[in-house]
Amino acid sequence: MHVIVRSMPAATEEVRLMPDGHTAQLKVAPGGGGNRPSCAKPFLKWAGGKQRLLGQFEAFFPAVFSRYLEPFVGGAAVFFHLANAGRLPRQVLLVDHNEELINAYRAVRDRLSELMDILAVHQERHGPDYYYHVRSLDRQGAGLGDVERAARTIYLNRTCYNGLYRVNSRGHFNVPLGSYKNPTILDRETLLAASRSLRNVKLEVRDFRTLVDLAQRGDYLYFDPPYHPLSKTASFTGYTAGNFREGDQRDLAEVFARLSEKGCLCMLSNSYTPLILELYRGFRVETVEASRAINSDGNGRGTVQEVVVLNY
Ligand SMILES: C[S@@+](CC[C@H](N)C(=O)[O-])C[C@H]1O[C@@H](n2cnc3c(N)ncnc32)[C@H](O)[C@@H]1O
Repeated sequence: MHVIVRSMPAATEEVRLMPDGHTAQLKVAPGGGGNRPSCAKPFLKWAGGKQRLLGQFEAFFPAVFSRYLEPFVGGAAVFFHLANAGRLPRQVLLVDHNEELINAYRAVRDRLSELMDILAVHQERHGPDYYYHVRSLDRQGAGLGDVERAARTIYLNRTCYNGLYRVNSRGHFNVPLGSYKNPTILDRETLLAASRSLRNVKLEVRDFRTLVDLAQRGDYLYFDPPYHPLSKTASFTGYTAGNFREGDQRDLAEVFARLSEKGCLCMLSNSYTPLILELYRGFRVETVEASRAINSDGNGRGTVQEVVVLNY
C-alpha cells in the first residue's frame, strides 16, 4: 500500500492507495501545541445521542475511508467526535429527515453571528410565557426566515422538557416547558466550535433509503436509527411526526445489506432485541453497555446492552 503524506496548515492529510486501486483520504490531527480551537460537541440535546458511547465506539471506527455519510445525524455526536480527532475526509454528508434540525445545522455553519444575536434575545427574554409564545410561532404561520427558525429550534431544544423533539400530526412542536432553573440558550463556544467543524460539510434533508444510490464503494456510513423498542409497551418515540416502525427497521437492514454489496463500510447501532439480531444475522455484531431511560417518564435509568453491527 502506498502512502502519500501532504502537509497542510491545519492538519496532515494522507491519501492512501488501497489494494484494489481506489484512493482514500485521511485527515490526521495536527501534532498538538498552538491555539487549538475548543472541541466541537453536540449543541442540541437529542434523544438517543451517542456522546456517552464514543469511548466504546473507538474500537469500531475504520481507519481509512473515502467519504463519511451519516444518515440519522440527530445531535451528531459521532460526527463531532471524528471531526475533533481530525479523522474525517474532505467530503462529509450529514443527513436527517427532520427539516428543522438540518436547517439549524445550516444556520450554525453559514450564519453563526446572526443566529447568536437572536439566541441572545431568547436568552434575555426566556420565561414560561415567552417559551409558549415562541413555541406557538409554527401555528401562526409566522413566516419566520431560516435563521429565526434555527434560533427557535435551538431555543426550544435547550428549554423544553428533556430536550425532546416532538410534533403533532400537523407538524406543530408540542413539547411542554422543561424545569431548568438557568438554561444555557446561547452557548457561544460550543456553537463556534460546531460551526468550524461543519465548514465544507454537506447537510441534506433525506430519508435514509435514498443513501443506497448515493453511497459509493469505500464510503463509511454510520447509522444510528431510532431504537427498536425493547418491549411492545416501551415508548422510544418522539423524534419526528411518524414513528420508526418495524417495517422501517427491516428496510434499513436491506439498505445495510445493499451498501455492503456495494463495498461501503457500514456501522450501525441499535437495541439488543431479537428482531435486530435476526435482521443483521451474518454480519459482525458487537455489544456495548449503555445507560438508558427504562421507564416511560424517563426518570429511571439502567444499564442495557446495545448492538453495534459492522460489515468489516
Ligand atoms: C437516534 S437519533 C440519532 C442520534 C445521533 N446519533 C446523536 O448522537 O445525537 C435518530 C435520528 O434519525 C432521524 N430519522 C428518523 N427517521 C428517519 C428517516 N426515515 N430518515 C432519516 N432520518 C430519520 C431522527 O430525526 C433522529 O434525528
